[in-house]
Amino acid sequence: MTSPVLTFFNNKGGVGKTSLVYHLAWMFASLRKRVVVIDLDPQANLTAAFLDEETIEMIWNQREQGTTMYQCVKPLTAVGDLTEPILQNMATDLYLLPGDVNLSGYEDALSAEWPNSMGDNNLYRPMRILSSFWQVMRMAAKKVQADLILVDIGPNLGAINRSVLVATDYVTIPLGADLFSLQGLKNLGPTLRSWKNLWQKRLDNWKTSTEKSSYPDFHLPRGKMQPIGYLCQQHGVRLDRPVKAYDKWVQRIPDVYRDFVLNETPSTKIRQEDDPYCLATIKHYRSLVPMAQEHRKPIFNLTSADGAIGSHANAVQDAKKNFRQLAEKIAEKTGVQL
Ligand SMILES: Nc1ncnc2c1ncn2[C@@H]1O[C@H](COP(=O)(O)OP(=O)(O)OP(=O)(O)O)[C@@H](O)[C@H]1O
Ligand SMILES: [Mg+2]
Repeated sequence: MTSPVLTFFNNKGGVGKTSLVYHLAWMFASLRKRVVVIDLDPQANLTAAFLDEETIEMIWNQREQGTTMYQCVKPLTAVGDLTEPILQNMATDLYLLPGDVNLSGYEDALSAEWPNSMGDNNLYRPMRILSSFWQVMRMAAKKVQADLILVDIGPNLGAINRSVLVATDYVTIPLGADLFSLQGLKNLGPTLRSWKNLWQKRLDNWKTSTEKSSYPDFHLPRGKMQPIGYLCQQHGVRLDRPVKAYDKWVQRIPDVYRDFVLNETPSTKIRQEDDPYCLATIKHYRSLVPMAQEHRKPIFNLTSADGAIGSHANAVQDAKKNFRQLAEKIAEKTGVQL
């Protein structure tokens, strides 16, 4: 697939993954890059940011094949095959494949096929199921000629997320400045490396199988999962906590990232603000957050008519500048030409 798949991942919850995917999707679209956003968190928070409840209910009740990732892969749990995704066009160059609470029901199939894919025969079906998210992403990218695919997932290390990561080229890790985020980072690095290795074993097993020649058009993801950096969230900081406490945790991130995610021995002490792997520090946008949610738009598109006046208007301009810089940095690291 030529359009890179970028996933925002941390098994620590509430670190701003969904909010980042939402804002970056709008930013890339405004820079005239065609984006497909995929909500693969069964909680479907990203979908709720884009669509009103009536529309979501209609999509879910229609139960039309292809309207959510779950609807695309569901036939695989019986005797059928994947269905083409139906994308929601949110704006020029911005498409969404909505989330689905029923996606959790696919976790069992993914868990069951993981060991089956290492057997000696009957490998096609397990490999088709384990790569199903990637197959659907490819169809979506081809359908709209996407430049980039952005994926939001839930905060866990389960079989759904493993399959999303198998489909992922680049990983970005949003973090809070606290003990729990740092601990999450320590789990995440080794998990990514393990998933990458285990997927490679499956690719090798498939390559040497007698079945492979019967499926000449069956392609599989490489399972690149390359970490491109982390994002530090200031909004998670409790307002009653002194700045010193924030600084204490934030300054530990560069070493932990190198040690656990990159598997490198940290050499000289690097401060977070000088760390090239720190893609951005995300500000606490305070009252602009509910304002943007109410108007169902990104913070940086709020206008005076929405209530963004005075100091709010300045904060909106700041947000635009910051998200643009972040999009440019991500584009550079993922090979997207702006
Ligand atoms: N920059 C920000 N400023 C202020 N509030 C923010 C900011 N980013 C996110 N939030 C708020 O923080 C909360 C958590 O954010 P979000 O849902 O994006 O995190 P998440 O990592 O996707 O959570 P989960 O792990 O549950 O999926 C939300 O209420 C969101 O509105
Ligand atoms: Mg989320």
